[in-house]
Parts: sequence; structure tokens; C-alpha cells
Amino acid sequence: MLAIETSCDETAVAILDCAGDEKRATFEIRGDALLSQAKIHQEYGGVVPMLAKREHQKNLPHILKTALTQAEISEEGVEVIAVTAGPGLEPALWVGINFAKALALAWGKPLVAVNHMEGHILAALARCEGKLLEIQGVRLPVVALLISGGHTELVLMREWLKYELVGQTRDDAVGEAFDKVARMLGLPYPGGPEISKLAERHRSARSRLGTGSEGSGEQSGVAIKLPRPMLDSNTCDFSFAGLKTAVLYLLKELPELTEEKKRHIAHEFENAAADVLWAKTKRALAQTGAKTLVIGGGVSANTHIRRVFTENSAREFPEVLLSIPHASLTGDNAVMIGIAGYYHALNKEFADFETLAANGNLSLAQSSTKPRR
Ligand code: KG4
Ligand code: ZN
Repeated sequence: MLAIETSCDETAVAILDCAGDEKRATFEIRGDALLSQAKIHQEYGGVVPMLAKREHQKNLPHILKTALTQAEISEEGVEVIAVTAGPGLEPALWVGINFAKALALAWGKPLVAVNHMEGHILAALARCEGKLLEIQGVRLPVVALLISGGHTELVLMREWLKYELVGQTRDDAVGEAFDKVARMLGLPYPGGPEISKLAERHRSARSRLGTGSEGSGEQSGVAIKLPRPMLDSNTCDFSFAGLKTAVLYLLKELPELTEEKKRHIAHEFENAAADVLWAKTKRALAQTGAKTLVIGGGVSANTHIRRVFTENSAREFPEVLLSIPHASLTGDNAVMIGIAGYYHALNKEFADFETLAANGNLSLAQSSTKPRR
């Protein structure tokens, strides 16, 4: 399986040796080449779609060459080509899709169109040992919390690879909120890992000095306390725009933004985000009787969120199996596209060369009619 991912600011090609079926499948990573454009977009404070497109166009051929060289195969060794069809930035998606179409036509190979979010779910379900991944005996139903720069949604998989939307953000995605708050604090893009670093520093200073000792926030007369939006609403929907705006107002009130204050705000913001994510996931678990919980997407790399989910699910839902992606598979990558592509190839769900198109809003949940924001 040769897999291509260009939905956002990572250009990635992976080559996987796949075997098995939905009961047990194994994926050996033979080639995995990835180039992040983060540095290029940094000066704009976020991903610029046309720049992303240009960089994918520039880099995809040599990323393919690197992956083929790593795997020590040529085109004869490739059986199927998988490519991300959406969701994501359409100009960026088109680069991968056209490249995949050209390869598939020239080499005479079938093509599979993959939903990027399904890739995140399957990557989270994979057990990972070095270059060998395995997905085995998944207990349905699965609830998946998908948290990335463009998405915050709770998805239910009752039947294998069939999805229903249980909840979603009504405004910003949680990763977007991390990135915007980071920007307000003067931190570089992508902001998620930066906020996480500051928040962890605040936590360790607090535990070293005793709770609340590192800047209680009261010296300036401004309490560093943020809301937990929609915590009490009886839906599984989220809202992060208000949380982001609350940070903006808090910053306006502060006479001075010291490094200590930055750490404190990052800490409170991360706590608020994690609290809301857990509360809504908990509601979804109770509502659906899920046997497995997965979290996936770039924000699932967050140390605090991983900790909150690990501790709370063990305590409150001991019967539910929590599956968190291996650190190497949290962000965008082509391995997850290859995994999803394999299952669809097994079902002979091949894409039509004529009609395959990028879809920036491609939805996972077929039954859903709600628009994504
Ligand atoms: O899944 P992903 O790589 O790309 C999209 O499909 O959007 O997710 C990117 C998002 C960004 O918003 C980034 O700030 C966030 O994931 N992120 C994090 C962390 N690492 C990446 N957010 C919080 N904590 C992190 N450690
Ligand atoms: Zn993603």
C-alpha cells in the first residue's frame, strides 16, 4: 500500500505491507517520509492554503522517492495507492489527489480515497511496536474523540467503519483555540505544543512549591480563571470560541504579561479545554454504551489531555478500553491513510479516476446532515 497525505501542512508518503482482515490486521511500515511545513507557515501565525499547496507540489516527488528508497521497492512492489480526499484544505488536498491519480494511471494500480479523520481513528486503534502496527479484536461500539486544528467531534462507530456524529464544536476547533491562545501569548505556530510546555512547567512549579504557589494570579488583582463552555448543556456539542475570547479579556485586564502569568494562563486554558473534552466524552460514553474509547488528531498529543483521559476513564469507565495513538501517529501522517486505505481496498471500495475530487468538508458520519464549521 502506497499512501499519500497532503490535507494540511504535512507532505507525507508511507509504504505499508498490509495483511489480515477486520478481525486482525497487521501493517509493517516499510517506508515513511514526512516533511512538515510548520516553519514556513509560522511567520503567518497559521497555515496559508496557497503556500501549503505550493510546498506540497514542490516536495511530493522527492518525498515519494525517499519512501520508495526506504522500502527498497519500485512501482512493481506497489499494489494499491491510497490518498486523502478530505477533509482539509482543498488546494492542498488536490495536490495529493492529482499526484495519486497520475501514479495510479501510469502504473496501472487501483486507487482508494481516504477520509483523513478515519485515518486518525484507525491510527489510535493500532498497537505499535517499532515499525509493526496491529489492529486486533476492536470491541464495538467505539466512541472516538477527534481533536485537531480543524475538528472537534465525537463520533460513534457501532459497526466497523460506519460512523455517526454524536457531537461537534459549534464554533472553533480545540486545536484552533490552542493555536489562537498561543498567538495571544506571543508563542509561535503551532501553538498547541507551546501551550502544553508552559502549562506543564506551571504544574511542576506548583507541585514543587505546594499548590497555588506559582503565581496565584491574585497579586495583580486579576484572578486567572477561565470558563468551561457548555459544560452543563445536555448535548455532546462543544464551543471553544468563548474560551478563547475569555483569554483575550483576561489579557486586557492584566497590567503586565510576565512569563509566570503566561505559564499560569496556559495552565488554566489547558485545564479548561481538557475538562470540557472529558465532560462531553463522558456524556457520549454513557449515552452510547461504548466499549472502546479512542482519542485521535493532533491535539491528542497533549500530555495533560492524555493524562486526564487515562485517569478519568480508568476511574469512571473501567469497563471501557481506552486507545490513545502512539506519539508518532498523533499528528498528520501517511501511515494512518495507508491503514484506512487497506480496509477499503479489502472491501474493493476503489475510487473512480474521473470523479475523485478533493472535498474540504468531507464528513465521516454518512447519516449526519449537520454542516461542519
Ligand atoms: O491533526 P493535526 O496534525 O492537523 C489537522 O488535521 O488539523 O492537528 C494539528 C493541531 C494544531 O492545532 C496543533 O496546535 C495541535 O494539533 N497540537 C497540539 C499539540 N500538538 C499538536 N495541541 C495541544 N497540545 C499538543 N501537544
Ligand atoms: Zn489531522
